[in-house]
Amino acid sequence: MTGPVRGISWEEYADFVVVGGGVAGLTAARTAALRGLTVLTISKGGPADTATQYAQGGIAVVAESGDSVDSHVADTCEAGAGLCDAAAVRSIVAGGQSAVAELAGLGAMFDRGRDGDVSRTREGGHSTHRIIHAGGDATGAEVQRALDTEVQRALGATGSSVLFGAAALRVLTDSHGVTGVLVNSPRGLGVVHCPSLLLATGGLGQLYACSTNPAGSTADGLALALDAGAAVADLEFVQFHPTVLFTPGGRGRRPLISEAVRGEGAVLVDANGDSVTAGVHPLGDLAPRDVVSRAIAARLRALGHDHVYLDARALQGFAQRFPTVTASCLASGIDPREQLIPVAPAAHYSCGGIVTDVSGRTAVPGLLAAGEVARTGLHGANRLASNSLLEGLVVGERAGAAAVERSGLPVEVIDPAPQALPRIPRDGLQQWMTDNVSVVRDGAGLAAVAAELSTARRAVPTTITDLEDAALTITASALVLAAAARTESRGCHTRLDYPQPSSDWRRSTHIRLRDGELELLEPQLTGVR
Ligand code: SIN
Repeated sequence: MTGPVRGISWEEYADFVVVGGGVAGLTAARTAALRGLTVLTISKGGPADTATQYAQGGIAVVAESGDSVDSHVADTCEAGAGLCDAAAVRSIVAGGQSAVAELAGLGAMFDRGRDGDVSRTREGGHSTHRIIHAGGDATGAEVQRALDTEVQRALGATGSSVLFGAAALRVLTDSHGVTGVLVNSPRGLGVVHCPSLLLATGGLGQLYACSTNPAGSTADGLALALDAGAAVADLEFVQFHPTVLFTPGGRGRRPLISEAVRGEGAVLVDANGDSVTAGVHPLGDLAPRDVVSRAIAARLRALGHDHVYLDARALQGFAQRFPTVTASCLASGIDPREQLIPVAPAAHYSCGGIVTDVSGRTAVPGLLAAGEVARTGLHGANRLASNSLLEGLVVGERAGAAAVERSGLPVEVIDPAPQALPRIPRDGLQQWMTDNVSVVRDGAGLAAVAAELSTARRAVPTTITDLEDAALTITASALVLAAAARTESRGCHTRLDYPQPSSDWRRSTHIRLRDGELELLEPQLTGVR
């Protein structure tokens, strides 16, 4: 590292920068720190202000007996509707048992049955009881707690640190790859010089009026990766969770009613008491999420209603098994032990993301991505329930190890000029996306949103909110471009004007930014696979 950088208040060096503090980011930070790297973790919010914290269902991981990697791979590929990368699926699924054992070794406490064995539940699309959980329906909070505690210890040992309330403005690169990152922090504008950087920024739920994602899920990593020259893929596949607590006029992060509630026997009914999924799929209410969300959306259209119901009244010990769900329902005046729970689909998970290999490497040397922001090929067109914490643990660990490959490389000092970015006010953007790019879409709606997005004005972001709005605008543009191109229905992309899957479209949509314009690529041009 040489020379001072103009126009900024502070400069630092780290062997590895991690943007994001959820399961993938913390696992990577810990792995890299244990290998002796100095790691700087950057987080927009405070500790545990992550999507991981809110994950309810659990971690899908193959049991020692009565299950197999082959079966988990088959279920994942079935849910992924022909777009999973089978080799990536196998690699990540096969890494599950050791990743979970490692986490348990750090003190994560998984729920156990009376026999003392770890309890396993079933969720949509799984052919067996495979999902381990913690605190009943508070698995993510337990994963976050265990990792937060351990990462503090591991980082402390190498002089590494965590910067809260800070956002990455731009990943800096030269012809050899990553050289640093421009950061907006409470100390002002700064640059961290680094040869490797991991984007673990989570999802894009804030593109929609209602989402299970926290306020910080604003697609930041996708916009940063595109700007740095990496490709994104399959963004049109946004998974809508079928059962999100419905309250009239509710916006922003909405409480999830875990799929495990259906796994334990609750049923979906409409206002007339009729089953929503009867005759739709052999797995009924436990069909893959895209199927159930589509069935609900169709029933709502047919009846002109805005929600259906989950009937969990027959479940024994509901409040003990689902304390988080119970508390959310009671806070909205619903007692799930005695009343039907009003639910509707809401944006939950981005199945696509930054194109990476199964160790989080993008095509830009030194730029890594893991967790929801990445697209490894595990999820295809529709993520299988509880495969996300699994992916964060397995790929996070590998990405932390991959950072070692570039540690100690000299990094060129780049003039980190902030740039003008397109930006649409958030409320309007969320409404267009909710009205036109939700569980179902069509060409006319997509064209209307694309036209609105093209009116975005460019300005240099000066606050974290500006930056988030720009990331949402850029990501919405890429998502709409992909959704308009995909003239078929597959997984969680349902086109009313193209209701069937097409064999021509058994391929991914890859997008990159060239000369400031988004461009749809053929998959083989991404340089990753
Ligand atoms: C749920 O508990 O239903 C969500 C689990 C997941 O999204 O994998």
